[in-house]
Amino acid sequence: MAEPVIAHRAPAVLQLEPGTYHWCRCGRSKTQPFCDGSHQGTEFSPMAFTIDQPRKVALCQCKHTAHAPMCDGSHAKL
Ligand code: FES
Repeated sequence: MAEPVIAHRAPAVLQLEPGTYHWCRCGRSKTQPFCDGSHQGTEFSPMAFTIDQPRKVALCQCKHTAHAPMCDGSHAKL
């Protein structure tokens, strides 16, 4: 299994509106924390997730979280 790129060692804290989002799993996207298609040619693919009501989230950007797409503090151990 390939290792993802560590995009940032801190989560992206965002207020999201209801909708479907695609979290970047590979770490290569230039529009972190979301997929921009840069995973093409790798074994990674984005993770789709849905927000049902307006909500503040902390999305993982180190790509090592065990609770994707949310930050679980793993960036502190890298
Ligand atoms: Fe990283 Fe698509 S750019 S999963």
